[in-house]
Amino acid sequence: MACVIVVGSQWGDEGKGKIVDFLTEHAAMVVRYQGGNNAGHTVKFKDQSYILHLIPSGILRNKTSVIGNGVVVDPKSLLKEIEDVRQWNLPVNDLLKISNTAHLVMPYHRLFDQLREKQKGSGKIGTTGRGIGPAYADKVSRSGIRLIDLSKPDQFQKKLEEIIPEKNCMLKYYFKEEQELSVTAIRDEYLGYFDQLRHLLCDTSLLINETIEAGKSVLCEGAQGTFLDIDHGTYPFVTSSNTLAGGMCTGAGVGPNKVSQIIGITKAYTTRVGSGPFPTELHDGVGEFLRKEGAEFGATTGRPRRCGWFDAVLVRQAVRLNGITSLAIMKMDVLDKLETIKIAVAYQDSQGNTFSELPPIDVDQLQPVYEELPGWNCPTQHITEYEALPLAARTYLERLSELVNAPIAILSTGPRREETIILTDQLWG
Ligand code: GDP
Ligand code: IMO
Ligand code: MG
Repeated sequence: MACVIVVGSQWGDEGKGKIVDFLTEHAAMVVRYQGGNNAGHTVKFKDQSYILHLIPSGILRNKTSVIGNGVVVDPKSLLKEIEDVRQWNLPVNDLLKISNTAHLVMPYHRLFDQLREKQKGSGKIGTTGRGIGPAYADKVSRSGIRLIDLSKPDQFQKKLEEIIPEKNCMLKYYFKEEQELSVTAIRDEYLGYFDQLRHLLCDTSLLINETIEAGKSVLCEGAQGTFLDIDHGTYPFVTSSNTLAGGMCTGAGVGPNKVSQIIGITKAYTTRVGSGPFPTELHDGVGEFLRKEGAEFGATTGRPRRCGWFDAVLVRQAVRLNGITSLAIMKMDVLDKLETIKIAVAYQDSQGNTFSELPPIDVDQLQPVYEELPGWNCPTQHITEYEALPLAARTYLERLSELVNAPIAILSTGPRREETIILTDQLWG
C-alpha cells in the first residue's frame, strides 16, 4: 500500500506536473485534491508539451485520474480540457472520475474575481481570474453549488433564485455594472454541462480508499505551493485553498494514516506569479537571466514569473508545514551558466534583528542574508547520474538539503521525463 503526496514547497510552478508524470508510471491512480483551473501543470515527453489545469497530469500515463471533492470545478473549462485530452488519443471517458460533491465555479465567480481585482488596482492579488477565490468563499459560506446538486434541477433552480438576487445587487450597487445575471440562462447552461459530465461522477473518497486497501499505489497531485496556502501562505497574497499536504486528507477524503511519503517539489531557485512578498526577488540582470533560461512564464496566464535566489528559510518552513519526507530539486540546469549562486539562509530587518522563519507580517521590510557558493559553469541538462554532476553542483545540492532539513530523492536536469535522477529506492515506501 502506498499513498504519495506531491506538494509544491514554494509559490507554485515548481515542476509538480513533471514529477507527477514521472511517478505515475508506478501508480494505479492519480488524484487532484484542491485548487481548480488556476493550476497549470506542464509535462514534456517525446518533444511534445502538454499543459493540464484541472485534470491530473497522471492521465498522460493512461491511469485512473480523479478530481477530488476539494477541487473547485469550472465545468466549461473542464469540458474543453476533456476534449484536449481526447485529442491526445487518451480514453478520457474511461480514465476520469470526478467527485460528486466537488463545488462548481459559477459565471458570477469568474466575474467577481475579475471585478474585485480591477477595483483593487495596484493593490491587486494578481489572481488568475478563474473565479477560484469567490467559489471557495461561497463554499465556506454555505451558498456554493456542488456537481451533485445539478442532478435535481428544481432544487438547483431554487438555489439559484436565492443566490442570484444577492449577486445582482452586488453587481449593480457595489461594482456599478450594468449587466444582470439571469437564473434561467445559468440554470440551462449548467444543466447542459451536467448532462455531459454526469457519467464521470462518483464517490471518489470511496474509490481512492478502495484502491489503497487493494494494495495499489495512489499518487496525490498538489496544485499551487506552500506559500499560496490560505492558512500558511503570505496572506492575503495567496490562493483560496489549503495547498499543503494536509489538504489532501480533506480534499480527497483519505485519512492521514494512509499517507506513506510526501515529496516536496522545489525549484533550485525561486519564482512567484502575481503580487505579494518575495524576499529573494531579483530585479537585476540575474533575475532576467533566470526568467529567460528557465522559460519562466505562467502555464495558465502566460504572465512573466518573478524570479530570485533559492530561499532556504522558506523551504525549511515548507518541510515542517507539510511533513515533507524528501525533496525533488527541479531546474538545476537553469543555473548552469552562473559564476556564483546565492542562497538565503535568514532575513534581517533595518534594526539588524535576524529572522530564521518567514514572519506573518511586514515581510516586505526584510532583507535576505545570503550565503554565496561557486557556480559550476558547465551544462548539466540531460545528465542522468548523480556522480556525473560537476562537484560544485553536488556541493550546492548538499548545502540546500542540509539547510532545509530534508533529503533529496529526485533531481531534475531538464523538462523531459528522462532528464531525471533518482537518488533513493524508497520513493513509494
Ligand atoms: P507546476 O505548476 O508545478 O507543474 O510547474 P509548471 O508546469 O507551471 O512550470 C514548470 C516549468 O518548468 C514547465 O515548463 C516544465 O516543463 C519546466 N521544467 C520542469 N522541470 C524542469 C527542469 O528540470 N529543467 C528545466 N529547464 N525545465 C523544467
Ligand atoms: P500551479 O499548480 C503559481 C497564484 C496567482 C495569484 C494567487 C491567487 O501551476 O503551481 P487565484 O487565481 O488562485 O485566486 O490566484 O495564486 N496562483 C499560482 N501561482 N502556480 C499556480 O498553480 C497558481 N495558482 C494560483 O498567480 O498570485
Ligand atoms: Mg504551474
